[in-house]
Amino acid sequence: MPRKILVTGGAGFIGSNFVHFAISNTQDSLIVLDSLSYSGNENSLKGLPPERVELVVGNVCDKGLVELLVEKCDAVIHFAAESHNDNSLADPSPFIYTNVLGTYNLLEACRKFDVRIHHVSTDEVYGELSLDDQSKFTEETPYNPSSPYSSTKASSDLLVKAWVRSFGVRATISNCSNNYGPYQHVEKFIPRQITNLLDGRRAKVYGNGRNVRDWIHAEDHSSAVLRILDYGSVGETYLVGADGEKNNLEVIQIILELMGREIDGFDFVTDRVGHDLRYAIDYSKLRNELDWRPRYVDFRQGLAETIDWYKDNEEWWMPSKKHTELFYSSQGK
Ligand code: NAD
Ligand code: DAU
Repeated sequence: MPRKILVTGGAGFIGSNFVHFAISNTQDSLIVLDSLSYSGNENSLKGLPPERVELVVGNVCDKGLVELLVEKCDAVIHFAAESHNDNSLADPSPFIYTNVLGTYNLLEACRKFDVRIHHVSTDEVYGELSLDDQSKFTEETPYNPSSPYSSTKASSDLLVKAWVRSFGVRATISNCSNNYGPYQHVEKFIPRQITNLLDGRRAKVYGNGRNVRDWIHAEDHSSAVLRILDYGSVGETYLVGADGEKNNLEVIQIILELMGREIDGFDFVTDRVGHDLRYAIDYSKLRNELDWRPRYVDFRQGLAETIDWYKDNEEWWMPSKKHTELFYSSQGK
């Protein structure tokens, strides 16, 4: 039976990828609830069938609106968030509001109307791993968030867990590693560097560039979320990753090479305060229990396709570029 799914944050990077993925891979229809904040973009939803995708511009903190929408849906997938660490260091307040209060509102609506919810979270709730061991995050790793962003995501996860236990809300959680792909805001590491080079600037690496992130293509994140919605067990958490560990210097060097630039075409800039050293995901549970596998296993190839997308879609990213770089230069980055 085709479902009606409420997708919060569906005009953002990963949410819009999920909307495209679900339209191609299910019979479901989707209501996107998105406030179209600075990181939301209606153009990321272009070309979708209007009879299956409705965009409602509104806020997850608007209790009345959230109740109205949740009541008419079979499930909710909650992507909406303030998502950028550097912004959370400059001003944590919107993170508390959207990430904590917004999740609370959705949980209360799902409790009221007994609607299934999947909460999309991040590996950053577990804090950092050291650079010199092979350990990875698992579902059992204790929470230890570092930044205002990751602490609000951790808070939202804890609300979900409590609402499952106390009120029987039918919820699952996924904690995913760093995503890349088309339609990502130019504030984030990979699109910032690609668009810097396309825009006549130099690439910018924080600190010494040795920090490690575990890269996954956004489409693999989408397929994992759909798999968990369909087959995940209520109350469970699933880690999502794709064995994509690279340090930032390695990523910069691949980007410079793929874009035909000199290998030293970047600057080291002021480090991020409290910069987590390393993230790495063990996704055995998702693989073994739900038979999920990533499709994008060649990072270089995925990155080459992402670079091509930014080359071909200047009108999508250029309107945000100047403002984003002004913010970074005010921070010495
Ligand atoms: P994004 O910033 O690109 O998108 C967030 C979307 O939420 C935007 O469309 C924005 O307009 C919307 N939004 C923000 N505040 C809202 C509000 N109050 N009400 C309604 N809509 C609101 O973020 P993203 O990178 O696509 O991340 C999506 C989710 O995935 C987040 O929950 C994030 O924590 C999680 N996540 C991201 C990554 C990553 O690498 N980007 C990795 C793991 C988990
Ligand atoms: O791990 C999942 C998380 O990944 C998500 O929860 C977040 O929403 C998402 O933004 C991302 O967080 P990071 O802080 O890891 O991503 P960001 O793209 O900001 O930075 C990636 C790495 O690159 C990090 O080590 C900081 C560094 N960096 C970032 C920027 C913007 C640079 O060296 N230069 C830059 O210009």
